[in-house]
Amino acid sequence: MIPSKNLTEHEIVALDGACNVSDGHARQPLTAGQQAIIDHLPELFREAKGVPLRRVEHEAHEAFFQALGQRAAPVCSGRILTTYSSSVAIDILGRCLAGTGATVALIHPTFDNIPDLLRSRGIRLIPFEEEAVVEGRLPAHLGLGDCVYATTPNNPTGQTLDAEQLSTMGLACRDRGCILALDTSFRGFDSRAQFDFYELLDDLGVDYVVIEDTGKVWPTLELKLGFMACSHTLDLPLQKAYTDVLLSASPVIMCLVREFSLDAAAGGFAELQKLIATNRHQLCQIVADSGITDADVGSRVSVARLRLPEQNATDIMGRLTKRDVHVLACGPLFWAEPAAGEQFVRVALARSPDTVDTAAHALRSAVVQAAQAA
Ligand SMILES: Cc1ncc(COP(=O)(O)O)c(C=O)c1O
Repeated sequence: MIPSKNLTEHEIVALDGACNVSDGHARQPLTAGQQAIIDHLPELFREAKGVPLRRVEHEAHEAFFQALGQRAAPVCSGRILTTYSSSVAIDILGRCLAGTGATVALIHPTFDNIPDLLRSRGIRLIPFEEEAVVEGRLPAHLGLGDCVYATTPNNPTGQTLDAEQLSTMGLACRDRGCILALDTSFRGFDSRAQFDFYELLDDLGVDYVVIEDTGKVWPTLELKLGFMACSHTLDLPLQKAYTDVLLSASPVIMCLVREFSLDAAAGGFAELQKLIATNRHQLCQIVADSGITDADVGSRVSVARLRLPEQNATDIMGRLTKRDVHVLACGPLFWAEPAAGEQFVRVALARSPDTVDTAAHALRSAVVQAAQAA
């Protein structure tokens, strides 16, 4: 049976669950450095009230893009829009693309709110399989003004375009007159996605939009920002669509993002990446003897896609929900072919090792019980 709810509906059920490894938001304990920043929140509030918004916004951009190796990002150029979250940025992009009648070739699989947001604007989507994405093989009938939307690193697979692959993709888009949209929400987890995208894309001369996100990496209880950066050649009314939605994001959160970015650059990202690797290893070890395998060996993102011995992800998710343990069946991630996701569950790794340990044991036992019941 294929689940009819979207992923976020499942994630909402999990929010108050005893063991929530459902959503991909960051819920690991704060590090000592991060706790020290949170302890100074009242000072950040005072600062945000007392200085011009543009100043803290530029400081947040500068610190965040620097921490991720994006030195050529268009900071201070007016080409980075700051939103409450990356979904807001995707929606703004979707509105603009709908206005031009563009078709979007969207990476498949990927997180389902991306196709849902784009479809809700009436945009025609073409599934763009990951294997074709890495080779830069654009769908045949994509042409002038159409758009390629790729998530890199991808959720849930962790697949990441390297510089050569991004370059091939960028050239293909440029030659066809397509806009290249990149969703890099998960790049903080993977140093292989931290080469300078902006330098590379600007050199190619391709029209691009890059959606960046602070929300997946730091456990700031939904205090987060999305950023939408674009090429100077892009002919879409992003700024106009932005102003229909918001005046500005909060300067307090901009100060917070600046501080977390500086901490990340000074070792915070390395610490985070170590935690995710430890959790992934522990999860895979615990479930190994039940026939569950890591579907994406080499992935470094904060979710693990696990291949089940049977095509029964919805059943396994249901069994775990009864125990108040929450994972995601991967059907909706395969947005163009949900049945293909029934072999996989997704387990969030941006959690404490104890939470991942509990989830892993419960998952192992649910799979063993399901096999016995079959
Ligand atoms: C790749 C990707 N982009 C964007 C989003 C949307 O993030 P948010 O809910 O913080 O807006 C998600 C959500 O998980 C995602 O996986």
